[in-house]
Amino acid sequence: MSTVSFIHIQSLKKHFQMGGTTVRALDGVDVEIPAGSFTVVMGPSGSGKSTLLYLLGGLDRPSQGQIEVNGQRLDKMDENELALFRRKTVGFIFQSFNLIQSMSAEQNVAFPMQFDGIAPKERTRRALELLGRVGLSDRSHHRPNELSGGQQQRVAIARALVNEPALILADEPTGNLDTSSGLGVMQVLSELHQSGRTILVVTHDPRMVRFATHKIFILDGLLVSESEYQAANLSFE
Ligand SMILES: Nc1ncnc2c1ncn2[C@@H]1O[C@H](COP(=O)(O)OP(=O)(O)OP(=O)(O)O)[C@@H](O)[C@H]1O
Ligand SMILES: [Mg+2]
Repeated sequence: MSTVSFIHIQSLKKHFQMGGTTVRALDGVDVEIPAGSFTVVMGPSGSGKSTLLYLLGGLDRPSQGQIEVNGQRLDKMDENELALFRRKTVGFIFQSFNLIQSMSAEQNVAFPMQFDGIAPKERTRRALELLGRVGLSDRSHHRPNELSGGQQQRVAIARALVNEPALILADEPTGNLDTSSGLGVMQVLSELHQSGRTILVVTHDPRMVRFATHKIFILDGLLVSESEYQAANLSFE
């Protein structure tokens, strides 16, 4: 298997059994993604984008095929190994921020560090540093409901950076944001890319494409070329 690619996916399938029918969320995907790339994943609703991201993040396992991230075969891992992989390698950013409402920005970012046995003072120091990196030094004591959507998403990004992940996966991170907040989030992702991380972003936002070094198009659980996508996608957008 290639060691050049950061992500190496071969014949990847994810099928869900629903009563008597099989949903083929991913139906034989092959893709190579280089280290340090910024890949945008596009496809209509239900095409398999989130499924692909979940498999890459070790949040779910494939039905068939190979999936290798940073030299690690996720399809061969058991639950404990996947949990370790998630903790060491992946930062996940969701459309809905998933912040804890009763905690301040700083506490939200510091929270996951307790599972790594980091002392409280050090957690706070690192949380403040991470909030600084996403431009929120002056909002550390705000709770999520005292922050704008874009600011909440930047807190979620800071939290995703706690383990210094090599791979950042973002599932429609600007989907709930207005134009200018969305741009701020994209800029933060772009800075993370420039600092050497590998980034995959699922998005419907054409402005995100500007930041991309690579593009992936999905239709019905299969990767297609940009021209095939454009030909087929006219009816969706
Ligand atoms: N846990 C599950 N059980 C059964 N079917 C599922 C499950 N998760 C996803 N699916 C189905 O798999 C297909 C792909 O879903 P997925 O969430 O990957 O789509 P998506 O491209 O992210 O769509 P959207 O743009 O709406 O988020 C859909 O048809 C969906 O209904
Ligand atoms: Mg989705």
